[in-house]
Amino acid sequence: MAKGGFREAKGDLRIEDVTKSFGDFTAVDDLTLVVPRGSFFALLGPSGCGKTTTLRMVAGLEQPTRGRILIGDTDLTGSRPYERPVNTVFQSYALFPHLTVRDNVAFGPKRRGEKDAQRLADEALNLVQLPHLASRKPTQLSGGQQQRVAVARALVNRPEVLLLDEPLGALDLKLRRQMQVELKRIQTEVGLTFIHVTHDQEEAMTMADTVAVMNLGRIEQMGPPAQMYDLPSTAFVANFVGQSNLGQGRITGRDGDFVVVDVNGSTVKIPSARCAVTSGEVLFGIRPEKVHLARSSDIDAAIRDRKVAFGDDMRATVLDVSFIGVATQYLVRVPSGATWSVYEQNLDVDPIDLKPGDPVWLEWDPAHAFGVAADGTPIPGITPAPGQDAP
Ligand SMILES: Nc1ncnc2c1ncn2[C@@H]1O[C@H](COP(=O)(O)OP(=O)(O)OP(=O)(O)O)[C@@H](O)[C@H]1O
Ligand SMILES: [Mg+2]
Repeated sequence: MAKGGFREAKGDLRIEDVTKSFGDFTAVDDLTLVVPRGSFFALLGPSGCGKTTTLRMVAGLEQPTRGRILIGDTDLTGSRPYERPVNTVFQSYALFPHLTVRDNVAFGPKRRGEKDAQRLADEALNLVQLPHLASRKPTQLSGGQQQRVAVARALVNRPEVLLLDEPLGALDLKLRRQMQVELKRIQTEVGLTFIHVTHDQEEAMTMADTVAVMNLGRIEQMGPPAQMYDLPSTAFVANFVGQSNLGQGRITGRDGDFVVVDVNGSTVKIPSARCAVTSGEVLFGIRPEKVHLARSSDIDAAIRDRKVAFGDDMRATVLDVSFIGVATQYLVRVPSGATWSVYEQNLDVDPIDLKPGDPVWLEWDPAHAFGVAADGTPIPGITPAPGQDAP
């Protein structure tokens, strides 16, 4: 290949059968994925699952033990970081403190001997909406502004792929939300491929076209955020992307388009098309905001009347009530002894009428239920602390 050929590579990013081992530890395990050109892709997963290692291999800072990394038809495997049309923005911005904002951004083009480095820097600063701060030093900027300079410094190199490794980790929640919108705008404007690494599921869902959930060096599920939230394919994903109420059950039969499941003596249904198993053990799942709390014992009549909307029900006891503004979260004990979480939107100004110890009846539309394999896969925190992670 001619020198500089790697940097001209254009097209989809393709990771093919990539494994990365450190000694006898496998950090990334036979990873295969395609990130379409121009898309916003989020890699989501718990600490240590291999996200940074994956990015470092794409950037050329690590070489895969096995497998290939391509952009379009150009095989990048083995090439040096600076030969690749790839730039990375890390959590720590690492700006040069003695240089102005403009000179920080112009640094890359200048080093490559580009004549109009300053103009390119100004263009990049416009894109991140910081032209007015061009002559400041990094220490005279807020965290969010420094972060935007770091993005400008990467964009000025006109990479084909921009890698973002927890770039918003150091920002407070409000600024973080603002920067999420900002980064999404920039990505849409420049049309580059963005790969954004985060362990914040909300961040991944709000920003990305496609989210890949990684666990133990492998991708457990990948797809558009709404689709993944609606139908998680494993217990891990069910609890890593949003929360789920899960109940260990056994499939006892069929009823039309549903499988019938016994969960500790309660009979519930799962649409066959939403159930990963066809017989035997299953983990029944329902999202907290899909469950409705009925208050009174004349529930039987109420359920009968609304049989179409609320086909399944289960008796429970209130354990905890937390008001979180847009919603109230209830923790309830279900017959199996497990704790489920229920969100009710605060549509009325009525005071909360339930308290710990009160009996309630949980109702839901069985069309929203899902079933995943009860294969002993580790399930991250089924019950979050009250008030955390509201959907
Ligand atoms: N150079 C290395 N030598 C040995 N082990 C490593 C090395 N780099 C990473 N690892 C291990 O590989 C695993 C994956 O690390 P990685 O940095 O990719 O995780 P991550 O998903 O980015 O986590 P976090 O969210 O905490 O940043 C971890 O268990 C880590 O300890
Ligand atoms: Mg990391």
